Parts: sequence; C-alpha cells; structure tokens
Amino acid sequence: MNLNDLNDLKEKAIRAISEAVDLEALERLRVAYFGRKGKMAEILSQLKNMAIQERAKAGQEINRLKKEIEAAMESKKQELFAWRDAAKEWIDVTMPGKKLPRGHLHPRTIIIRKMEEIFQSLGFSVVDGPEIETDFYNFQALNIPPDHPARDMQATFYINGGDNKKETPISLSQNRVLRTQTSPVQVRYMERHQPPLRIIVPGRVFRRDATDASHDCQFYQLEGLMVDKEISVANFKAVLLEFFKRFYGQSVKIRLRPSYFPFTEPSFEVDMSCTVCAGKGCRVCSHSGWLETAGAGMVHPNVFLAAGYKPRLWQGFAFGFGIDRIVMMKYKINDIRLLNSGDLRFLRQF
Ligand code: DAH
Repeated sequence: MNLNDLNDLKEKAIRAISEAVDLEALERLRVAYFGRKGKMAEILSQLKNMAIQERAKAGQEINRLKKEIEAAMESKKQELFAWRDAAKEWIDVTMPGKKLPRGHLHPRTIIIRKMEEIFQSLGFSVVDGPEIETDFYNFQALNIPPDHPARDMQATFYINGGDNKKETPISLSQNRVLRTQTSPVQVRYMERHQPPLRIIVPGRVFRRDATDASHDCQFYQLEGLMVDKEISVANFKAVLLEFFKRFYGQSVKIRLRPSYFPFTEPSFEVDMSCTVCAGKGCRVCSHSGWLETAGAGMVHPNVFLAAGYKPRLWQGFAFGFGIDRIVMMKYKINDIRLLNSGDLRFLRQF
C-alpha cells in the first residue's frame, strides 16, 4: 500500500458518494468503506505489514482520508434528507381540490335583503334603531299612553333598568322595555329628519308570549314610513302593490281591511292573495284565499306631534310586516322556533 493507492481510494469513494441517489445507496457505501469487512478495515489490517517508521505516517494519512470520506458522507446525507423531505411536500397541482365547508346566509337574512332591495329601488332608505327602547318611543310617542288598552295587545318585557329604590325613580317614559315593535324607529327618525322621507326598518322585536310553532318571544318586523305633503291611501296601496308584485310575482293581489292601531288613522290590515292556492282557498289560508301580511295606516297626527312635526303640514303612511311568516311561507318551514335555534341541521338546508 502506498500513498497513491490511498488517494485513488479517496477519490473513488468521494465520487461514489456524490453519485449516491438515495439514503439507501449511501448506507451501502458506508458499509462498504467503514463496515467491519469494509475497505478501511482492509487498509488498517495492512498497516501491520509496514516498517515501523512508515506505519506512523501511513496511520496519519489513513486518518485524514477517513475524516474526508466521513465528511463527504455526512454532507451527502444532509442533502439526501432535504430531498426526501421536499419529495414529501411535493404537490400535485392537477389533483382535484378538497372542498372547504362554506357558510351561507340565514334564510331570514336572505328575505330581509330581498325586501330591502325592492324598497330601496322605490326610494326607501334602510335605517335601524335600538332593541332596548324607552316606554316613550315604544308606546307614548306612538299614541299609546300609559293607561291605553292597546298595551295589552303587546305583552311586553319590562327591564329593571331604573333603580326604583332611589328617591327619585325614573319617570315612566324613561322605563326600559325590549321593543315590542319596530314602529318606535318612525319617531326616532322623524325627530332627526325633515320630510319628505321614505324609510324601512327591518329589525328584531320581543313579546312576552308563550312560544309554539307560530309564536316566538323574539321575531322580526319590517317597518315602513313615507311622509310628504300630499300622501294618500292611494299612494300607500300603489307602493305596497308594487312591492308585492316584485316580491311574489305579477299575479299577486292585495286588499286592505279596516283595522285599528293607535298610531294610524285610518288603519288597515293588508292581505295578499294566497300564493299556495292562488286565491282559490287552501289549508294555508284557512280556505279564505287571503293571507294577512301587515298592519298599516295613515300616520296619526299625535305621532307627528311627538316627533315635532306640524300635523297640518304633513301626511304619511306607515306599515309593519311580520318577516318570519314570509320566511316560513317561502321556505316551507313549519316551526318559527327553528329560525332562532341556531341548529345547523336546520340551517344547512338553505
Ligand atoms: N307595530 C304594529 C305591530 O307590531 C304593526 C304596525 C301596524 C306597524 C300599523 C305600522 C302600522 O307601522 O302603521 O303590531
């Protein structure tokens, strides 16, 4: 064995290492060089045949060679590891993607947006108001004084907001209630804006009622208000019919029935022809051909007064839809409580 042999060996080894295609090939090389019967062992076994002086020098030389080969192996190993990891991360961009679950709008939101869209195209602005109201806006400003029997019609959640133990209990008009209707927003809006005006107010309202398939203690209304110099019932009917036609289709009919609300005079109940039987009579419309959809009327002078308008100068109409019924009819939902349940098994169907 001479130094040239060692150099040859080293060069061969390093070339073989650099050509190793994977970790297994590298491992085979390690065994071939450093294994018990490998090349290094063979060389070392030859040392004992050498003269003592040469042996020391050759020993050093072999050590150096060993270190170099080991270093080459180590760096190749790192490189192959990196390749293996990269191969694992390889992405087949032609594979079909995984479908991510996608949220969607609540059925009631879909309906509210549709209603808003139609009224906006008729010049109405969408506004809102607080769900926690004062007795004043929810009742008194709407011509429902404290002793008015109409208060009984709206089972009210009263809030113990005022500290009744204090020497000066807050006045009745400042008492807090959960609004029983969206109508208080009429007055709130008129206080801050001058006519002519056209607004709708979609929103949640609350009633202290026992719940069943068609009643819940919270539900949604859509209030409407239009005020100008010469507004008549004819204007009201035209606006509403236009809304119904765009919402339900051209063939729908509406009719007004006399009714009573403290904040309108005259007051009406707005019926539409039943969309299920086209007015012929069916179970949904109790065989009458008509469905109740909204309360409405011409704004009462006292409501204008409460808002700071001169009743002689202005006229207007107002209406209030129950939204949940419309949603239930549209999507054939038979229990109003499902709408507030948050139950995904229900919601996923829309
Ligand atoms: N606020 C009434 C209710 O909740 C509905 C209503 C009736 C609203 C007549 C109106 C209206 O604006 O003019 O029963």
